[in-house]
Amino acid sequence: MNGLQLISTGSALPRRSVSNEELAQMVDTDDAWITSRTGIQQRYFCSEGESAVSLAIAAASEALRNAQLTPQEVDCCICATVSGDFATPSVACMVQAALGLREDIPVLDVNAACTGFLYAASVARGLLCGNGGRYALVIGCEQLSRILDMTDRTTCILFGDGAGAGVLESTQESLYADLLGARGSQAICAAGPGSQPSHIQMEGRAVFRFAVEAIPRCIEGILAKTGLTLDDIDWVVCHQANERIIDHCIKKLSAPAEKFYKNMSRYGNTSAASIPLALDGLRQSGQLRPGMRLLCVGFGGGLTWAGTLLTWKGDSHETA
Ligand code: UT7
Repeated sequence: MNGLQLISTGSALPRRSVSNEELAQMVDTDDAWITSRTGIQQRYFCSEGESAVSLAIAAASEALRNAQLTPQEVDCCICATVSGDFATPSVACMVQAALGLREDIPVLDVNAACTGFLYAASVARGLLCGNGGRYALVIGCEQLSRILDMTDRTTCILFGDGAGAGVLESTQESLYADLLGARGSQAICAAGPGSQPSHIQMEGRAVFRFAVEAIPRCIEGILAKTGLTLDDIDWVVCHQANERIIDHCIKKLSAPAEKFYKNMSRYGNTSAASIPLALDGLRQSGQLRPGMRLLCVGFGGGLTWAGTLLTWKGDSHETA
């Protein structure tokens, strides 16, 4: 079965950024607590006219533009989200309509919370192999502000809105590996729109313990599967939930800290958007070179986890 390589990325953020100080005016918290416990300094919240769908459309069209592909060349579109505008149509179908993707392709949403983008990539790989297609448009988008309890200081300070997207190409050329897993648990819980309670609830400490066990397990699992070592990896791109979680794992693995990308200070935890936002952050800051190996690690609600090894092929206009 072919693997996947990443050929372009895109992202979109709401207009409104919300600082820790602003949150401290709404709940009993302060910048020092949030920064020292999480590494988060600000996040974005949607305002009028913005939603998970509008962000997904903007991120996806940027990723297509950067790949220099037309919508007609996309062979499947998968969107990871837990906060889409509707139960149906899916976010992916709304992206299809907005971008003018073909009708003879699979288009669907995936719910694996913060692991969603990596699950979506794996689903896309299976669809491309099964259907003989070449390009997958994979998106992670969230409007978590819609399901936050702004009176609960233990959760409302953590999360933010945003979207990231990638174009993935089916290939035999570059190394690809993934491992996905799940353990049904309500340690992170949010009901669907309309039901009660609709807010995100989380057993923070238990999830922290789960995260610092799952990340090294995913990294070591991918290295064992591929026969690589961390020396062969250019970037480790973990889900951006909490800086302390990543630092804990770096220590546990005795890994080089400079390989672990971090951007949670600017965006907070954007669940399914977190990993593609990080990938796009690497691209935008010029830190990706063709052939670089990216070890992505997701963990979160479900509980779910995933490790995925991708190669950056690069935007065609950048590698030309
Ligand atoms: O994306 C899904 C994956 N999610 C995660 O990875 C989240 C994993 N968990 C975490 O990141 C951390 O557990 C949190 C950031 C959520 C919490 O950090 P913590 O160091 O585990 O804090 P804690 O829950 O143990 O609370 C410590 C204290 C408590 O006060 P007492 O009982 O010691 O008096 C809390 O009430 O901090 C208090 N506290 C706050 N204080 C100020 C909790 N939230 C806040 C707050 N501001 N926002």
